[in-house]
Amino acid sequence: MGACVRAATIDDLHAMQRCNLLCLPENYQLKYYLYHALAWPALLQVADCDGAIVGYVLAKLDEECENEIRGHITSLSVLRTHRKLGLAATLMRAAHAALEEVYDAKDVSLHVRVSNEAALHLYRDVLRYERVGVEEKYYADGEDAYNMRKTFREGEARAKVDGDGDVETLRTRVERMGAGAGQKSKKKGTKR
Ligand SMILES: CC(C)(COP(=O)(O)OP(=O)(O)OC[C@H]1O[C@@H](n2cnc3c(N)ncnc32)[C@H](O)[C@@H]1OP(=O)(O)O)[C@@H](O)C(=O)NCCC(=O)NCCS
Repeated sequence: MGACVRAATIDDLHAMQRCNLLCLPENYQLKYYLYHALAWPALLQVADCDGAIVGYVLAKLDEECENEIRGHITSLSVLRTHRKLGLAATLMRAAHAALEEVYDAKDVSLHVRVSNEAALHLYRDVLRYERVGVEEKYYADGEDAYNMRKTFREGEARAKVDGDGDVETLRTRVERMGAGAGQKSKKKGTKR
């Protein structure tokens, strides 16, 4: 069993949506994934474990920003069975590399629930995002979001993909774990 992080294709969109529905309460209609794929094809990355999509990152360019090219992470998740293997960090680094190299973005932003310790650790401590503000009641259930941002320095994103987040390391970790890809639905998502 091996896992790799690769650019998504149109054929992966259903599996990405399924992964999102299993992992997060913030869900999207399929056409929103399709819009991302058509507009910014390099910014959808998937973790593929022997043909099963076990994680994804959905990123885009900030469309409200006219003078500068800025990236935004729309959504990230990894199936419960495949967590703590470094997949999310590798997915994020692949998105960073594409933002920097394909689109020449100067930075990338995201929102995260203030209670989401796992994601906060990933963004703040591993990927070096900085907290730039709080958006009160950002989420439908009333929870606040941290607004986080990472500024790219030349060459940084690529170096990270080729370095500690490399596919071989990842494959070894997933093989060691021997995790299966079959999942049961945790909850039904609310599509918007
Ligand atoms: C957050 C999430 C994407 C992390 O995925 P992952 O593949 O397990 O993350 P990684 O294996 O790449 O781990 C990255 C870092 O986060 C840490 N981490 C992962 N899960 C953690 C947890 N539950 N608590 C604390 N730290 C955690 C890892 O230890 C690692 O840090 P380290 O390098 O210092 O050891 C995953 O837990 C998830 O899909 N959660 C539900 C969806 C979600 O919250 N998405 C983010 C929305 S903003």
